[in-house]
Amino acid sequence: MAVFGPGDPCLIFDRKERRYLIELIPGQQFHNHQGVLPHDEIIGREEGSTVKTSLGRSMTVLRPRLADFALKMPRGAAVVYPKDTGAILVWADVKPGNTVVEAGTGSGALTMALTRAVGEQGKVISFEVRDDHAQLAEKRISGFFGGIPENVDLRVGPVEEGLRELRPDRIVLDMPEPWHSVPIAATNLAPGGIFCCYLPTVPQVQTVREALDEAGVFLDVMTFEMMMREWTVGGRSVRPNHRMIGHTGFITVARRREPAGN
Ligand SMILES: C[S@@+](CC[C@H](N)C(=O)[O-])C[C@H]1O[C@@H](n2cnc3c(N)ncnc32)[C@H](O)[C@@H]1O
Repeated sequence: MAVFGPGDPCLIFDRKERRYLIELIPGQQFHNHQGVLPHDEIIGREEGSTVKTSLGRSMTVLRPRLADFALKMPRGAAVVYPKDTGAILVWADVKPGNTVVEAGTGSGALTMALTRAVGEQGKVISFEVRDDHAQLAEKRISGFFGGIPENVDLRVGPVEEGLRELRPDRIVLDMPEPWHSVPIAATNLAPGGIFCCYLPTVPQVQTVREALDEAGVFLDVMTFEMMMREWTVGGRSVRPNHRMIGHTGFITVARRREPAGN
């Protein structure tokens, strides 16, 4: 039984399925045009319960999925969209026990997904150059997991420097100039390991692809983008939604081999 406790994130759904993300704090209240809902009314209840506001409106309370949390949490840096997160985890083949170097931590959305994927035996070492982003990400990651998990190591500083000391299985970069990390990845990424980056524009993709070619130790290099089109399904109206997220970023993945001759 998943019962809500103090500090837990909670997604409140109204009858029209509008959703609101809150952190449960004893003594605090959620207010909107449908009335007031004391957090204490939710704390101690099972996930999926329905509670009533002061105006008698029913609200259903659920734990946010990671995707809900990433899209709803207050953030500084732009997050990796959930449609892309899934593809990054699969095509970078991030699995339990992996050591992953990530940058920039940004708002921490991708860090949370990587953390779950590597499991308790794995490790995510995440670098962020901006102090303000690092602090906010720490807050968000802690808010989602109820503390910073032991398999996450949040570091402030440029990934290019941090990588010199590390020998990860995976490098996952969501930052404007990932190509500066490619020469270090070429020596420090474990053989067979995977380099992955997420970039919004074509010139950035071209530059990182050139860097990967020049490094001479990457193969199976692939760039792609993800489209997700939600559908409306109601009565006889079964059709794609009128709106969709048209563009987020291009995902590039590459595998490291031993240099020729080895
Ligand atoms: C788009 S955000 C990352 C968002 C993050 N992936 C998420 O899902 O929340 C890019 C971040 O990279 C950081 N950054 C830029 N260059 C960096 C570097 N060389 N090393 C570490 N972080 C860097 C920026 O400060 C920014 O916070």
